[in-house]
Amino acid sequence: MERLAILGGKKLREKPFVTHAVIGEEERERVSKVLDSGMLSGFIAQAGDHFLGGEQVKELESLVREYFNAKHAVSVNSATAALHVAAAACGIGPGDEVIVTPYTMCASATAAIMMNAIPVFVDIDEKNFCIDPSKIKEAVTPRTKAIIVVHLFGLAADMDEITEIAKEHKLRVIEDCAQAPGATFKDRLVGTIGDIGVFSLNQHKTITSGEGGFVITGDDDMALKMQLVRNHGEVITEKMELEDIAGVVGFNYRMTELEAAVAVGQFRRLDSLTEHRIGLAEYLTEGLSNIDGLTLPEMPDHKKHVYFVYPIRLDEKVIGVSRDKFVKALVAEGIPCGAGYVRPIYLEPLYQKRIAYGKEGCPFTCPIYKGSVNYDKGICPVTEMMHEKELMVTGVCKYPHTRDDIDDVVKAFKKVIENRAALADLKE
Ligand SMILES: Cc1ncc(COP(=O)(O)O)c(C=O)c1O
Repeated sequence: MERLAILGGKKLREKPFVTHAVIGEEERERVSKVLDSGMLSGFIAQAGDHFLGGEQVKELESLVREYFNAKHAVSVNSATAALHVAAAACGIGPGDEVIVTPYTMCASATAAIMMNAIPVFVDIDEKNFCIDPSKIKEAVTPRTKAIIVVHLFGLAADMDEITEIAKEHKLRVIEDCAQAPGATFKDRLVGTIGDIGVFSLNQHKTITSGEGGFVITGDDDMALKMQLVRNHGEVITEKMELEDIAGVVGFNYRMTELEAAVAVGQFRRLDSLTEHRIGLAEYLTEGLSNIDGLTLPEMPDHKKHVYFVYPIRLDEKVIGVSRDKFVKALVAEGIPCGAGYVRPIYLEPLYQKRIAYGKEGCPFTCPIYKGSVNYDKGICPVTEMMHEKELMVTGVCKYPHTRDDIDDVVKAFKKVIENRAALADLKE
């Protein structure tokens, strides 16, 4: 039996895994063309031709519309911006509550705060790590305006139940698909099921322009509002004879032509990059499937998982070693793996201290807000259990990695399992 690297043995893998994006010829050619043109952004904050950006931005939006069969696509310079423009377009404002999962990148919830509304956190489903629809119902109040659904790790949330609750209570649904472009729920692409779909093009996503994002919607008014918030809308609403200006406080969320040029090339490869991820993830599932004490990702027939990361749950009682020790041992073998995902968002100081805008606690203390919200530790026990004890995630299932790389991951898991008795004796 080979000794574990964490206990002084030889590391299983010295070769680093790839962490950067792979940029293709089309991206290079397009960027060169933009540089040659000297027009690095096509936007001007005026009604008219430049309101909607330059050639590359328009081409990206056209590709996005076609791919999702969406009436509107609006590019922005991050998914954080996308969530903000989406929240504005949904009419979220002071006094409103927005239901959201606590197990997501912080921006999914900050979008509500950006509109002076109150995030209400609802626990996740332990099978898919997304918001648990059975717990949404009890969180709905007369103040609830919207649900921000996050398709976490590349797997769709249970959209049937969520859509039903939203319909019953007249709530808007924003789908945060930052981690799940190309994922489906009952053959529908995520992002096309709710009112607005939000996507990220940041460095770590399946396709990237460094920073960037976009939204899709079928609603004309929402699309216009999102374009206005993207581009200093307050100086444009009058020219456009827009009557309902609520929420149209304009930012500069415009994408440059350089970013859009990269994004167009990347977007064309979304499906092939996704299929590559799925192939490797399924191969990893095969490799790990005989290990007792590990719960591998759910693969229900009605959902297509696109494996932004590969989540695994570890049962400490069966394995005999804590999740944290197991992850440390894997990392010592040269396998990238994280213990948990993010800290449940409500435990961040913004929520614990209830300080966002100014020192007086706005929006939590806003007199327009008539509710009371709980951010105590313990409110979302499944999320806390995943984060503190059970979940590990690895991002190895992606291009340009191959099955040989995944073989190393499986070998490392097996090596750690074989040595679990020795590992159990190691001090944390
Ligand atoms: C679920 C989710 N939402 C939103 C974001 C924000 O994306 P961006 O970095 O493009 O602002 C991320 C980024 O990690 C994310 O994972």
